[in-house]
Amino acid sequence: YYEVHNIVVPHIGPVPIAKGDFHKLPQKVQKFIAKWVDICAPRALYICDGSKAESDEIIHKLVERGVLTELKKYENCFLCRTDPADVARVEAKTWISTEEKYDTVPHVREGVKGILGQWISPPEMEKEMNDRYPGCMKGRTMFVIPFSMGPIGGPISKIGIQLTDSNYVLLCMNIMTRVSPKVWETLGDGDFVKCIHSVGCPRPVTRKVVNHWPCNPERIMIAHRPTEREIMSYGSGYGGNSLLGKKCFALRIASVIARDEGWLAEHIIASVIARDEGWLAEHMLIMGLKNDKTGEEKFICAAFPSACGKTNLAMLQPSVPGYTVRVVGDDIAWLKFDKEGTLRAINPEAGFFGVAPGTNFKTNPNAMKTFQKNSIFTNVAETADGGFYWEGMEDEVDKNMMITTWLNKKWQIGAPGKAAHPNSRFTAPASQCPNIHPDWEKPEGVPISAIIFGGRRPTGVPLVFETFSWQHGVSVGACVKSEATAAAEFKGKMIMHDPMAMRPFMGYNFGNYLKHWLDLEAKPHKVPKIFHVNWFRVDEEGEFLWPGFGDNIRVLDWVLRRCAGEEGIAEKTPVGYIPKKESFNLTNLGDLKWDELFSIPKYYWLDDIRESKRFLEDQVGTDVPQVIWDELDEQEKRLREL
Ligand code: GTP
Ligand code: MN
Ligand code: MN
Repeated sequence: YYEVHNIVVPHIGPVPIAKGDFHKLPQKVQKFIAKWVDICAPRALYICDGSKAESDEIIHKLVERGVLTELKKYENCFLCRTDPADVARVEAKTWISTEEKYDTVPHVREGVKGILGQWISPPEMEKEMNDRYPGCMKGRTMFVIPFSMGPIGGPISKIGIQLTDSNYVLLCMNIMTRVSPKVWETLGDGDFVKCIHSVGCPRPVTRKVVNHWPCNPERIMIAHRPTEREIMSYGSGYGGNSLLGKKCFALRIASVIARDEGWLAEHIIASVIARDEGWLAEHMLIMGLKNDKTGEEKFICAAFPSACGKTNLAMLQPSVPGYTVRVVGDDIAWLKFDKEGTLRAINPEAGFFGVAPGTNFKTNPNAMKTFQKNSIFTNVAETADGGFYWEGMEDEVDKNMMITTWLNKKWQIGAPGKAAHPNSRFTAPASQCPNIHPDWEKPEGVPISAIIFGGRRPTGVPLVFETFSWQHGVSVGACVKSEATAAAEFKGKMIMHDPMAMRPFMGYNFGNYLKHWLDLEAKPHKVPKIFHVNWFRVDEEGEFLWPGFGDNIRVLDWVLRRCAGEEGIAEKTPVGYIPKKESFNLTNLGDLKWDELFSIPKYYWLDDIRESKRFLEDQVGTDVPQVIWDELDEQEKRLREL
């Protein structure tokens, strides 16, 4: 009895097991848990099964404690207000540790601060960890979450195990990943990604807990050991820092695994051909577009920096007839070439963790319908009748409605200040999305016809252009920039580089990452066409030149026609092909300043390319593949001839 209901660890002795059968877990898992129980000293161990009953039990407790508020207007929906000091990802406190520094970061110019990842040496990391983790879960329960990124047992899927002392994290992981006892069976003696998370607030607490949200913002550290496939996140409960399956695993660690698997295969066949058999883990949405006339369906991936429209595009409700649009994923794609050389993508996640502000029945009806039940809302406002509210819902809520802001203040529409935090989020099961694709859980993924890069570019950058080649496309991706948004700690309207929309999520040296992308173009791989879009260009008054949202289907229509090889619809410019006006679906669009939307100002672009080159020289230095320099030189030459 004693043994079954306790786990005995060397330093702290027996720790009660509140749920689950520890002794039936795979040996490697038992060792992993025991090690961290001994370090973190939790009051109890709770082995999760991802069931509805489990979520219900936790929710019930959290409502009682005041951590969650039920949103009575919907079914099984809850609001969580965090400590206002813990509301976004913290890039400045995100680290990657490898023996060799340049495995992680590129050769940054002397005196320049690198922005493509932060490296920490293993001994330094060890020291930081020893300063944080011993005893960090005292008085709290340690939850053990077995999860799969991608369908359980799928050929591209990967397994992780997260230890956490946050029940909010457990609830969100149950939505965002596949948590199930089946994971133990699939795993067997296999390896898994080790995820350790603590809010860094042991009991008795020494720090004032705000909003029943324990955290330790001063001591936040999100650390990765790619070689060990290990993630350690301390001090924050906010999703981007604490749902470790997402950015930490599915992007940073997975991109390293993806590269390594290529090298492994390359090694085996090295004497025959040097072909990169690796895959890609990218900050991309995946969507399917079925042509209603021909019945033919094409899938595309799109990489935009955070808060630049992935979720909105993935769930797009077309403003004009012609296509049935369905979502496969809204944030992360794992891409791999199959034996026939077709690029296939899976969505490793099981839910949407989307930006709430701006979402309404006009801009994104599919998102609105997705989170009417079984969803968690973080840092949004609450209406007096038990509904959610955020900026952008003005026309969907009674003007006189009493609202409680995310900061717990009474507020009404039209009053100064914001009701919801700009980075407030909804967490909802993907399966509830009305236009979820029937193949969204297909283990081998869907075939990809186009890759689209984009960002928030108020000036200079046309609505859409098609790049000239895979290599040119990769160089365009390497130069992605965007106006800063609320998803990270940056403030103000600054145009920032966000290469491949991966700046905050790079798992290894960005120069090597570019080389990996370039190396994928080899027989029999059929590489998709690469495009660039910009929904955010404005006129002199600062008004958007393009209506965006549902009207983005018109851009995708042109993209797909180009993929199908349709001629006579494109015009060559120095930066790529742009649509010919007469070929573009403009039905019912009203006034459109086409020329302004598509102009390519020569001096703007010459400046832009000079600036991009400086960025790459400063940030990536000798690690930039020569092909990228050649592409930029050629683009500059084309621009000079304009
Ligand atoms: P992450 O989930 O943080 O990676 O961001 P995301 O890329 O999914 O961004 P999301 O779709 O949530 O969009 C963020 C913001 O961009 C919201 O405020 C949207 O209203 C706005 N937005 C999205 N699409 C468009 C568009 O086509 N036009 C305009 N003007 N705004 C858009
Ligand atoms: Mn994202
Ligand atoms: Mn999103």
